[in-house]
Amino acid sequence: MKIGGKPYRTIWPNVDGSVEVIDQTRLPHRFETRRLATLEDAAHAIRAMIVRGAPLIGATAAYGMALALREDASDEALDRAHDLLAETRPTAINLRWALKRVCDAGRNRPREIRAEAAWREAALIADEDVETCRRIGEHGLAILRDAAAKKNGAPLNILTHCNAGWLACVDWGTALAPIYMAHDAGIPLHVWVDETRPRNQGAALTAFELGGHGVPHAIIADNAGGHLMQAGKVDLCIVGTDRVTQNGDVANKIGTYLKALAAHDNSVPFYVALPSTTIDWTLASGGLIPIEERGASEVTQMTGRLPDGSVVTIDIAAPGSPAANPGFDVTPAGLVTGFVTERGLCAASEDGLRALFPADGAVR
Ligand code: MRU
Repeated sequence: MKIGGKPYRTIWPNVDGSVEVIDQTRLPHRFETRRLATLEDAAHAIRAMIVRGAPLIGATAAYGMALALREDASDEALDRAHDLLAETRPTAINLRWALKRVCDAGRNRPREIRAEAAWREAALIADEDVETCRRIGEHGLAILRDAAAKKNGAPLNILTHCNAGWLACVDWGTALAPIYMAHDAGIPLHVWVDETRPRNQGAALTAFELGGHGVPHAIIADNAGGHLMQAGKVDLCIVGTDRVTQNGDVANKIGTYLKALAAHDNSVPFYVALPSTTIDWTLASGGLIPIEERGASEVTQMTGRLPDGSVVTIDIAAPGSPAANPGFDVTPAGLVTGFVTERGLCAASEDGLRALFPADGAVR
């Protein structure tokens, strides 16, 4: 995707052997990149949400392993790096999938070539993610095309939650990839962007992405979606996910479940876009997914830009007000109209997933 006409991925290798990422804590007010030179840099970037979104967390962790093995390629160092990175964010399963892939690529090799093998694997994970998201976009495009055909030329109204765009991945995105492709294909559409409190990934990142690509959109308060659905102003919802369990339950950013409930009540189709790397074949159902608890200050404070251009964080609650901050919720499979994957569409069920990914389901 492009920023100011220049094509970017969210993560890329530097010639000096470090890795560069876009600092998502600064968007949309400032476009800055950060250099990750060590394992600790990578772990911090994930923990502090300089990078976020399930696929990008995975790619960053993979590069983090490669950076660690450059310093020390022993078995102990490999295990240490794995454990440190695995603990940075608990809900996105892509993190663990990517760590396993890089560990498998490095472990049974002579020490002197482990770092290089890990680096190659990380680059492969990043490249594959781009292609996977492109395919998700193509399959999702078919859904949007069909839905738009029923609108007699009026814009198709799509609601999305959080940010499942190119910033959440290496490029393209999952839920937003079909939207970019539909827009490029000349399909008239308009996106309702949930602001996504408490961190505002919708208002800060999704709106930034859509605006950059010229896609018509409007930011809405998180609580507005149900009303818009009742008023017939939402034709379909599409979101990303951090983990899908065997039975098709979906963990995604907090608030997703409420949108799925409202969509169900109003007969609005509710799609979830995901790469197969987000399927956790080891968990039977969503109740087993660890839900990240984040700091109270994300709820009691907000960050924004003042008229003089400075970016500040302010309190929005009385001093000392307690707050709770579960980062994700689980949408039961029964509320999901269908999954959009790199291999096509399927039902949100074990049978649906296994029909598309039989080998993956069998081995894990
Ligand atoms: O806490 P975040 O910003 O990492 O949460 C991101 C989401 O919930 C996305 O919807 C999800 O990772 C899918 S990204 C393609």
